Amino acid sequence: MRKLLPLIGSHPGGRSALTCRYRCGDACFQEVPNTSDNEYVGDVMAGALSRRSMMRAAAVVTVATAAGTAALASPGMATQAAAATADRHYPGHPGRPGHPGHPGRPTHKAARGLRFDAVAPNTADQVTIPTGYEQNVVIRWGEPILRGAPAFDPDNQTAKAQAGQFGYNNDFLALLPYGHGRQLLVANHEYTDEQLMFAGYDSDNPTREQVEIAWAAHGLSVVAVQEERRSGKLTPVQRHHVNRRLTVTSEFRLAGPAAGSDLLKTSADPTGTKVLGTLNNCAGGTTPWGTTLHGEENFNQYFANGSSATDKRYGLPTGSSGRKWERFDDRFDVSKEPNEPHRHGYVVELDPYDPDSTPVKHTALGRFKHEGATATLTRDGRPVLYSGDDERFDYFYKFVSSKRMKRGRSRHARAHNLTLLEEGTLYVAKLTGDSPAGQIDGSGALPSDGEFDGSGVWIPLATAGPRGAVSHVEGMTAEEVFVFTRLAGDKAGATKMDRPEDVEPSPRTGKVYVALTNNTKRGLEGQAPADEANPRNANKHGHVLELTEHWHNPASTRFAWSLFLVAGDPEDPSSYFAGFPKDKVSPISCPDNVAFDPYGNLWISTDGNKLGSHDGLFGVATHGPRRGELKQFLTVPTGAETCGPIIQDRRVLVAVQHPGEVSGASVENPASQWPDGPGKIVRPSVVAVWREDGRNIGC
Ligand code: FEO
Ligand code: CA
Ligand code: CA
Ligand code: CA
Repeated sequence: MRKLLPLIGSHPGGRSALTCRYRCGDACFQEVPNTSDNEYVGDVMAGALSRRSMMRAAAVVTVATAAGTAALASPGMATQAAAATADRHYPGHPGRPGHPGHPGRPTHKAARGLRFDAVAPNTADQVTIPTGYEQNVVIRWGEPILRGAPAFDPDNQTAKAQAGQFGYNNDFLALLPYGHGRQLLVANHEYTDEQLMFAGYDSDNPTREQVEIAWAAHGLSVVAVQEERRSGKLTPVQRHHVNRRLTVTSEFRLAGPAAGSDLLKTSADPTGTKVLGTLNNCAGGTTPWGTTLHGEENFNQYFANGSSATDKRYGLPTGSSGRKWERFDDRFDVSKEPNEPHRHGYVVELDPYDPDSTPVKHTALGRFKHEGATATLTRDGRPVLYSGDDERFDYFYKFVSSKRMKRGRSRHARAHNLTLLEEGTLYVAKLTGDSPAGQIDGSGALPSDGEFDGSGVWIPLATAGPRGAVSHVEGMTAEEVFVFTRLAGDKAGATKMDRPEDVEPSPRTGKVYVALTNNTKRGLEGQAPADEANPRNANKHGHVLELTEHWHNPASTRFAWSLFLVAGDPEDPSSYFAGFPKDKVSPISCPDNVAFDPYGNLWISTDGNKLGSHDGLFGVATHGPRRGELKQFLTVPTGAETCGPIIQDRRVLVAVQHPGEVSGASVENPASQWPDGPGKIVRPSVVAVWREDGRNIGC
């Protein structure tokens, strides 16, 4: 039975009660959906003991001080804020307490792309960026983007207006080239927080208008943005013909091996191929053929009246849903439309260059709480996609297409490339540690070989081909594997991970980086204990895994892995920064979205900082002598999560998601005044940051 929890008090996972309720339907408070008895990462390779010397840096002596004033950014946000006072030696920082640092005169050379004065942990209600940098709000929730859409008026909002305006809670962002000093901005709108959108909102009795506004505020946006010469500033081009909104009522096409299956048919769609809406789009990716991918994550929370017979391990609410949409559309009532939830939980592909195209839900990539999906290519041009299932103790997957990408932008190539994700094999990851299980005690202490590492295999679940699909899982048909993918992962013996979130293959080295946000249930009674790939019990700060495919072939079925970062305060003995000296790194907690800059540095945004600071964005070198040197680039306002980072030569773009989402907050009683100051409604927004001297970021 799913519980609705009070909206006050502390919640696990570092987020406010309000965020837990609206983003994921209080997922942290529900039973762990994975009750399978898969073995954990054991000591199968105990003989590998003591291969390496101890490489851990000595304990550090400095203390990170969560500091900062409640300073409010001025409307327009053109000025940078100095790093808040911190009593420690940050990289690129002169080291005197309270000294903001000197741009261009760092005390040592960080990796190229990371030469900025690290921002100290803080709780300022603003976007805090390094000295010498500037920022602007690119676009806010409610800004009109389609022809005919009115200016934002939060007191008189309508569903029709919202359907032509930028949606709520921007998460994943993509920027695609468009020419003439313009780019296409594509954004996910993961979820709505009605308490912060509607004055006087009564969660027991939402009105039809409020529900329809929420439908229109979910989904995706495509907006042409204009680059400013000589800076990284971006501004939206309103009413551009390519601008687009996709919402909970837009049409999507189901494609791949489960399309047309009886499992996907409903009374409104007897073909099982057309579905209205995309739900809870979290992270995503940009493909080498110029489309965008969007993960449907906590889709379960929107459905009411699930049961053990209909649930299949996805956590459908058994009573009413949190937003009560079932009162306004029967398809959200599982007792009336049992197959409707089967039509959500996929990776969506969008062609943002074609405003008339119908976006596709790809069943070949499986159905689970897709955080996102990120693509790379094999040497012979076949796409490989990695995707995490963001739930405690759930799995990490990849899909290897059997079709080759065609180069060029001809109509023929484009049409072909839009079918690449319909045929191929879906795999799930099984990881094995190389240290004896007895050395993984759940504290995060490194084993005697000096590293959390080991090997792994990709276990095939099902293969989709031109003449049908084949299951590789005993007792499940191929259609069942693609629709009830979690059950297939259970049967295959996949490794239970600590919330696999965003994934990014390095364009430089091919190594794949997986953010594992946290899992405070790890090691509790009745739950899987710590293992070498998830080495801390009650893991509240998370870690980042580095995966190297065998022969550097993304289609390989074998890989090696190691933990690149074990997050936390550098003073915490269990934290680890790829062996880099811990007195020279920024503290980090709850890694979530990852991206690469043009120099091959990994950038990590966080969700739910448990160290007392606001969430932020960090850059870290992944190769060379400064590997593991992690530096904080920015922090976000009160209650917000840092999402969708993009790092271009001269610009950093972030989505500031759910600002002001603090327990007890409402429209009348806001917890944040960002981005427009006192008396103005809090608005999730996209922010661009650039160097005031116009040079490249971090150089
Ligand atoms: Fe939407 Fe997994 O965070
Ligand atoms: Ca080891
Ligand atoms: Ca996320
Ligand atoms: Ca990413």
